Amino acid sequence: MTAQSRIAPKSLHSRIMSAEDAAALVTNGATVGMSGFTGSGYPKAVPLALAARIEEEHAAGNPFRIRIWSGASTGPELDGALAKADGIDFRLPYNSDPIAREKINAGEMNYFDMHLSMVAPMAWQGFLGPLDTAVIEVSGITPEGDLIPSSSVGNNKTWLDCAEKIILEVNAWQSEALDGMHDIYYGTALPPNRVPIPLVRPDDRIGQSHFRVDPDKIVAIVETDTPDRNAPFAKPDAVALAIAGHLLEFLTHELKMGRMPRELLPLQSGVGNVTNAVLAGLLDSPFENMTAFTEVIQDGMLDMLDAGKLRMASATAFSLSPEAAERFNADAHRYRDKLILRPQEISNHPELVRRLGCVAMNGLIEADIYGNVNSTHVMGSKIQNGIGGSGDFARNAAVSIFMTPSTAKGGAISAIVPMASHVDHINQDVQVIVTEQGLADLRGLDPKQKAEIIIERCAHPAYRDALRDYYERAKKSSFGGHAPHDLREALSWHQRFIDTGSMK
Ligand code: COA
Repeated sequence: MTAQSRIAPKSLHSRIMSAEDAAALVTNGATVGMSGFTGSGYPKAVPLALAARIEEEHAAGNPFRIRIWSGASTGPELDGALAKADGIDFRLPYNSDPIAREKINAGEMNYFDMHLSMVAPMAWQGFLGPLDTAVIEVSGITPEGDLIPSSSVGNNKTWLDCAEKIILEVNAWQSEALDGMHDIYYGTALPPNRVPIPLVRPDDRIGQSHFRVDPDKIVAIVETDTPDRNAPFAKPDAVALAIAGHLLEFLTHELKMGRMPRELLPLQSGVGNVTNAVLAGLLDSPFENMTAFTEVIQDGMLDMLDAGKLRMASATAFSLSPEAAERFNADAHRYRDKLILRPQEISNHPELVRRLGCVAMNGLIEADIYGNVNSTHVMGSKIQNGIGGSGDFARNAAVSIFMTPSTAKGGAISAIVPMASHVDHINQDVQVIVTEQGLADLRGLDPKQKAEIIIERCAHPAYRDALRDYYERAKKSSFGGHAPHDLREALSWHQRFIDTGSMK
């Protein structure tokens, strides 16, 4: 199947061109809305050609940098190539590319890290400035001229609506069976004209299958046949399995207490090996007919669908290993009625997360003894990835769970610290913290009660005494308080790591 045969309207065939010709339509200083979310559905040819062009311009002494908006992280052909070419002036809303991360932390690239549900409304309101060009991967164009989305939806609807000109990549690698899997809702509005979003169950379909687009804005169509960046998942190690074990015990307890039904509440699962291990653990759990209302569909969810444990999943994108992506592409028809991909302002919508009562499960970088969570900044300064959707879900979920190994960097860093060096999730939004050491259920506790169980249950034994010592001394300090700290010492663990390479 060639990409051209996926472009049904003959009237658009004259706009088919090479990636190099399409890249030439992007101007220096332009703001470009790219498709892409967690390594799926991002444009793969035009950004690479643009990076090559930028390198040529720089070699000739000409400045050339662009501003990039996307759904979330993309792939090495986009963020990696453009960051390497020093071609990104500004980036939002989420990045996990290591080259871009380095540039951001070196102060060579501006980065607006933001809640993923808020990108589209901010763009509509004009806070982000005008959008010059959208570069969007699709899996086909219908005879009516509508766009069949590919493996992620992200902010594509918004970029297509707002951009002055549009470049499409039609990717023949994407399964044609994706057609019908998407639910593109066009009913969102800005205050004071907002109305309730009519979604009351994770499997409700409230929109249409395709993006609408003004054909006059399409300036180029590029045919591709390239896989998504599908990162392999590591086999769960002992730490991931222990975290998953504690979490499953907790969920089983919630079932026994009558606080959760047998099908649980809709699951939201962040990306990463630990969350994938939790999903694997759910395969052997007593829960049946589970649903997911989440951001990304990972390997573990396909396994749960295959086993009949998961009834359906709603997300905005896939995030699969290469093997799982092949498995999905070979058999996509089978999953079509069980998967729904939505725009990210819907997949992550606080109103919907609160209404459905999701079980939010996300990773963290560090948590402090009072349950404040840092998801983004290493040693308070260097961005790792970004807040992503963790805030959209954590604040609004029925149960908000954060999980992490109790140490990082071979034990040199404790994930439980006296005071978080940066806070993304205030303790009021953090209900449960899990490490391989144990699980702390913080619901209904005073800060001092929280500190006691976080230290006892979650901290690594190598750091537990030092945390106890800090906490006891902070309590006795003359200033006292509701959540006592000794401010001279509170961040000394981080400074010690910076100075010596270890928090010990
Ligand atoms: N101090 C320094 N580095 C730390 C650290 C700490 N306290 N905790 C973790 N890290 C480092 C790890 O060493 C690792 O570095 P490496 O890539 O150089 O090996 C990296 O951060 C990732 O940590 P890892 O333990 O592999 O966990 P992860 O892949 O689950 O990622 C987050 C953890 C917090 C970075 C990740 O969950 C994230 O980006 N969260 C924010 C966005 C989010 O929650 N999205 C989902 C919402 S739907």
